[in-house]
Amino acid sequence: MNLSKFGEKFTNYSGILQLMDDLGDALSGRERMLMMGGGNPAQIPAVQARFKAMMQEILDSPGEFERMVGNYSNPQGDAAFLEALAGFFRRECGWDVSSKNIALTNGSQTAFFSLFNMFAGDFAAGPRRKILFPLAPEYIGYADVGLNNDFLIANKPEIEYIDAHTFKYHINFRTLTITDDIGAICISRPTNPTGNVLTEQEVTALADLARRHNIPLIIDNAYGTPFPNIIFINDVKPVWNETIILSMSLSKLGLPAARTGIVLAREAVITAVSRINAISGLAPGSIGAALVRRLVESGEIATLSNTHIRPFYRRRAEMAAEQLKAELDGYDFYIHKPEGAIFLWLWFKNMPITSQELYERLKARKALVVPSHYFFPGLQEEWRHKDECIRVTYCQDEAIVREGLHIIAEEVKKAYA
Ligand SMILES: Cc1ncc(COP(=O)(O)O)c(C=O)c1O
Repeated sequence: MNLSKFGEKFTNYSGILQLMDDLGDALSGRERMLMMGGGNPAQIPAVQARFKAMMQEILDSPGEFERMVGNYSNPQGDAAFLEALAGFFRRECGWDVSSKNIALTNGSQTAFFSLFNMFAGDFAAGPRRKILFPLAPEYIGYADVGLNNDFLIANKPEIEYIDAHTFKYHINFRTLTITDDIGAICISRPTNPTGNVLTEQEVTALADLARRHNIPLIIDNAYGTPFPNIIFINDVKPVWNETIILSMSLSKLGLPAARTGIVLAREAVITAVSRINAISGLAPGSIGAALVRRLVESGEIATLSNTHIRPFYRRRAEMAAEQLKAELDGYDFYIHKPEGAIFLWLWFKNMPITSQELYERLKARKALVVPSHYFFPGLQEEWRHKDECIRVTYCQDEAIVREGLHIIAEEVKKAYA
């Protein structure tokens, strides 16, 4: 095939493709794989029961199913759902927003494709701009969305050792500079892959920096508050203001197949995202919107998050961390302090093999993880640490997680030996 630059760039074998391929194969059930890799959320029975009940209400309500599957929405997204979300954000978060501040996308991954390319790349005037990640490592899904190369830049973190097997990254504000070629700042909070939750002070400092430079701060709230609220530390408040573009998703509530992303931003940004929706996909899907609209209207989406989703992942994170610490006691190994999201980020300091090699050895034993080098988009400098970590999820059945962690521990011991 003779491909354009776009064709070449987007048909390349990317990290996100490897991850989603592994995930699809493992979950298809064709071969027994221990899925500790991709970002598939857990299927939590009490939450699924509510989604089923919502689907039943749709089926029982005259004409609703037909509208849900039979009509395109506006490019901005299902109007009733946008109204429900605006009401929810006003009531629950105290934000002065209306439906004009919200657009839906086909999954929040699609929102990042639109937003990153809106704020970075070639401009009519001035230098080519980039997206800045103030804290590497960051989400693998950002790495390849730019229409240009040389699109991302990341700031190397500071490392705090918390105890014998726990560490935490912090933003190094001394090295964080906003030059003229930065088009937007982006963080995921909680961070995928590490489970870091940036403090309110850190977020405020980033928002101030962004405002002073007249660029947006994009906060990827896929795991954040007010829903699905997969945050294990206390008193984390939702943050939004007109400098911030807040991206949310229904995926980690347990609805990844509904492909529903939510963007909350000032009106001009929402108009722009809606226009890109129209060109790239006519309109975002409405099935996720229809399924959770009632839960948003009643506020139950927050209760479900707090009473079922957050405790489930917190327990799993504790269980997984305990098992690894017990099995790898005596090794120079650290877990990033699990403050949220659905992963553990494991650092095998000075491990004689790279995490890509470890990934391959684990895959040969039917345990899938994600090696760390994919999670440093924009961080050009050589740094051994980039090849010393892996990301594991603990979302599958407990027996699978335990078996997978045991295999990881065995292979890590072999690698050090
Ligand atoms: C941090 C983060 N952002 C965005 C996404 C994209 O999710 P979706 O497109 O399903 O909304 C994910 C998925 O794993 C994620 O982990």
